[in-house]
Amino acid sequence: MSLFSRKTDSSIHTRCTEDKLTEMRLKYAPFYDVFQKQEGSHVWLGKKELVLLSSNDYLGLTEHPKVLEEGQKALRQWGSSSTGARVANGGRQYHLQLEEKLADFLGKEAVHVHSTGYLSCMSAIQPFAQRGDLILVDRNVHSSLWSGIKNTPARVEKFSHNKPSSLARALEYEKPEIPKMLIFEGVYSMEGHIAPVPDFLEAAKGQNVFTVMDDAHGFGVLGNQGRGTADHFGVTAQLDLICGSLSKALASVGGFVAGDRCLIEYLRTHSKQTLFSAAISPVQAACAEAALEVIQTEPEHLEKLWQNTRAYRKILEDFNLDTWESETPAIPIVLGDKAKVYHFRKALIKKGVFTTMSIAPAVPPGKDLIRSSISARHTAEDLDIIADAFAYAVKKVL
Ligand SMILES: Cc1ncc(COP(=O)(O)O)c(C=O)c1O
Repeated sequence: MSLFSRKTDSSIHTRCTEDKLTEMRLKYAPFYDVFQKQEGSHVWLGKKELVLLSSNDYLGLTEHPKVLEEGQKALRQWGSSSTGARVANGGRQYHLQLEEKLADFLGKEAVHVHSTGYLSCMSAIQPFAQRGDLILVDRNVHSSLWSGIKNTPARVEKFSHNKPSSLARALEYEKPEIPKMLIFEGVYSMEGHIAPVPDFLEAAKGQNVFTVMDDAHGFGVLGNQGRGTADHFGVTAQLDLICGSLSKALASVGGFVAGDRCLIEYLRTHSKQTLFSAAISPVQAACAEAALEVIQTEPEHLEKLWQNTRAYRKILEDFNLDTWESETPAIPIVLGDKAKVYHFRKALIKKGVFTTMSIAPAVPPGKDLIRSSISARHTAEDLDIIADAFAYAVKKVL
């Protein structure tokens, strides 16, 4: 019996009404919780106060006074919206300002910013890969990169997650004259893994490879002052494009693509996501610019993030939980069974900690997991609440 009563003679409408995944989602409601209030690292689900352990506010800057002040100023100065694409109604000074500062910080010649990271990641691929090209992609990359890939006519070869030897095998019989694009993430948010970037670059050397790295979760977290995964390995110059999101460490909403000026100008000519979608809003650009300033002038946020990451990882290790060898503040707890994941998450909520879950097919079979990420904003008291909640959930569910 469908949960929805409205009937039509449209097959597509009926397909939606009878969709099993939607039915399961609504029945068990593991997603789309709505918080009534948020203060720092705490949220309120109805009247229940919870420590939020699944936000990407890695540096805890979403309520930083400078970020709020610049956002408010931009709202007053430029209004609420960019109201269109930059080719249609012009760019604004705040776009260029943010792009110049991001390029400077990342050590690239130029940047283009978009209204979401999803668009930026698509933009870093769609206009660049053409018919006859070969795309080599880590099989665990984010949906935004797959959306970019699927919008190209290029041939696609997946290689095993984070395995340079698998990339080398995929390249073995390919002719050097075939243009190739290598796509991977700097930090994988589901697994918490850092990509072995120097080994990927070594495997791709001399093989006519153009490299695209999505650093949504490495930016602000790794490298000098948070310059990201490329800086962490000292390979910024060897990556053709770095794309990412402003919605994580940069406490805003939006995305960027960074690279040589010729590549960014080419993107502005050919990327559909850039030509036909409204530019980032004044408030979001100003908040990101302010956060970028904060991360360069207040190193304590990055230090606190890593201090909290170590303390949180220790809690999980003490309970012998499988964290999939995460090396970053994004830490999965692999339970390997969807019923366990569901009940474990419920138990954490009962004891005041909010996380999300990921189950197959979103993760490989046997890797059903609780997604969690720690922030610089978490306090010592939060960590105590987290430890107590995990003690309860482990006892109750495992
Ligand atoms: C790895 C990765 N790339 C890209 C994105 C898209 O970024 P945004 O949320 O800004 O659209 C995300 C967001 O979850 C992400 O995790």
